[in-house]
Amino acid sequence: MRGTGCTVGFVPTMGALHQGHLELVRRALDACDKVVCSIFVNPLQFNSQQDLAKYPRQPGRDRELLQEVGCHVLFSPTDDALFKDFKPAVFNLGGLDQHWEGPSRPGHFQGVANVVERLFHYVRPDRAYFGEKDRQQLTMIRYVATDLHWPEEVIPCPTLRQPDGLALSSRNQRLSEPQRKSATVLYRSLQAASQMAFKNSVQDTRGAALLELAAEPDIVVDHFGIAHPDTLAPLNDWGQLDHAIALVAATVGPVRLIDNITLVR
Ligand code: PAF
Repeated sequence: MRGTGCTVGFVPTMGALHQGHLELVRRALDACDKVVCSIFVNPLQFNSQQDLAKYPRQPGRDRELLQEVGCHVLFSPTDDALFKDFKPAVFNLGGLDQHWEGPSRPGHFQGVANVVERLFHYVRPDRAYFGEKDRQQLTMIRYVATDLHWPEEVIPCPTLRQPDGLALSSRNQRLSEPQRKSATVLYRSLQAASQMAFKNSVQDTRGAALLELAAEPDIVVDHFGIAHPDTLAPLNDWGQLDHAIALVAATVGPVRLIDNITLVR
């Protein structure tokens, strides 16, 4: 459709759609003539076969949700079709995989970059919509798109939350009710940091967040960090910045959850 004067918006997903995904589709519908949503559970970005096997799948329900919201095209390729004649590339990620999710999930961001390249190759969108919930992924895709002069415009979209602050995620489906309650500590830790940020040192701000996380016994914290908004490198001091990013990851029951917010001066 590119070159026909018709703008194409694209929402790449791994399915198990929730309101966060549908909001991306709505934003694309507001700004583009045609909207494509892909559902593809990408084996390249999983670190364990078990996590890949357990990733929630609900193809029938996803199709209904996309129809209800008015999405024009569902692109749901098989592994063989998407990766036909495919040799994985090694992308320059500008060091964006060095911190936070990177060390815990070796190869994950290369896997995401590879599949996004394939999806863009087939869909050829003008604009692609990514949630800020996966901040490191979003920052990495923007970096690669700029570095390689990809024509697609990468549009960031705010995280959607439950009333108690829990960020919407397909993985939440795998939480029991008590685990879901415990998971709300991720947002509380981000809020604690937000209240301290720029009025206190980076170390004390991070300390307040870690204290909040420590008060919840039923989670295992992977990291809580405060990062530069562009490079996502860990910050030691606020410097001249007027905003920064706080990122958290923790395992709750069977699920590893991530969240982040923008800290504003
Ligand atoms: O954010 C996701 O759901 C996935 O990482 C993406 C971008 C669809 C690539 O598989």
